[in-house]
Amino acid sequence: MKAVRLKGFGGIENLKLEEVETPKISFDEVLVRVKACGVCYHDLLNRSGKIPRTRLPIILGHEIAGEVAEVGSHVKDFSPGDRVTTIQRVLCGSCTYCRTGRESLCREGPGFFGEEIDGGYAEYIKIKTSSLCKIPNEISFEEASILACAIGTSLHAFKTRAKISLGDQVVITGAGGGVGLHAVQVAKLCGGRVLAITSSKEKIDKIWEAGADEVIYSPDLQFTKEVKALTNGRGADVVAEIVGSASFESSLRCLAPSGKLVFLGNVITAPVLVNPGLVILKEIELIGSYAVTREELAEVIDLVKQRKIRSIVSHILPLEKAPEAHQLLQDRKTVGRLVLSI
Ligand SMILES: NC(=O)c1ccc[n+]([C@@H]2O[C@H](COP(=O)([O-])OP(=O)(O)OC[C@H]3O[C@@H](n4cnc5c(N)ncnc54)[C@H](OP(=O)(O)O)[C@@H]3O)[C@@H](O)[C@H]2O)c1
Ligand SMILES: [Zn+2]
Ligand SMILES: [Zn+2]
Repeated sequence: MKAVRLKGFGGIENLKLEEVETPKISFDEVLVRVKACGVCYHDLLNRSGKIPRTRLPIILGHEIAGEVAEVGSHVKDFSPGDRVTTIQRVLCGSCTYCRTGRESLCREGPGFFGEEIDGGYAEYIKIKTSSLCKIPNEISFEEASILACAIGTSLHAFKTRAKISLGDQVVITGAGGGVGLHAVQVAKLCGGRVLAITSSKEKIDKIWEAGADEVIYSPDLQFTKEVKALTNGRGADVVAEIVGSASFESSLRCLAPSGKLVFLGNVITAPVLVNPGLVILKEIELIGSYAVTREELAEVIDLVKQRKIRSIVSHILPLEKAPEAHQLLQDRKTVGRLVLSI
């Protein structure tokens, strides 16, 4: 089969289109003919060697949708021809986290696609059924590929982790990106008033269209004053920190007393400085939020099917253009998600 493999850490030249062996499934696995794979900033971090678990060579991509081509002898719930998408990893199914519904924290299983196990920049992939969900015909493969990561991530962050209340003032950084543009929609659906931050003028219209209540254009990421002014001086109840270290100081300072800061991304992977005094005096909560559970993915599928959330795919490129896709993301040229069509 054709696949794009990461052969070394560094620039886009390390992504090579190759002919590799089609995976062989075991009794509890499904072979999926990949039709679309989203390109996540996480893939760029894998490529640049910033995520220590990434092994080489590896087929990148954890935002996968396709059609079941073959099923193992013990597989009951899936048949050839089923349209499917997947969570970002293959689980062990028996650790504390798998048993208590916190499966995004499982580290005992085979692991994360495109990191510890081969991912979706390929014509075929083998997947255990505990990672798969069926998708209805109303959702295209391109839209389906990004349901778990670009959309489910925000459902996990806002509903499960930050537990947004109706009327909460919600600040979202990196609002024009793949996670950001869907975070705007999910935060609205959870009852938040969304103040979206973008450093890119050309993404402002799309962020309004996604349903933001306010769009703050902030190329220098100094947005504390604007957030305070737009919240009658009180600040934000929740900040979804998607950009990470570059916007962290403003994100922390714009929180209201008892506000919650949810770390979702860190594009330049630098550490941040926290003054404990500020966290103590304002009783701030710093929360991490990672990936999505299969139950949350099923909820996202339903919401997208009902058109309560739009899956926003801005670019579709063929598999062999994976290096160009990485370059577009790196240059902040995408609005919503870029998807490889395979
Ligand atoms: N927690 C999770 O489960 C999870 C899931 C998926 C992704 N992530 C992480 O979330 C982050 C964003 O991922 P993504 O896929 O949404 O990426 P993306 O589509 O490239 O969007 C990131 C957005 O952040 C802004 N941005 C990027 N680089 C920046 C910089 N150097 N300074 C300021 N703003 C910058 C840009 O938004 P504007 O142009 O609008 O400013 C960009 O569109 C990454 O760190 C990724 O690893 C986490
Ligand atoms: Zn992703
Ligand atoms: Zn587990």
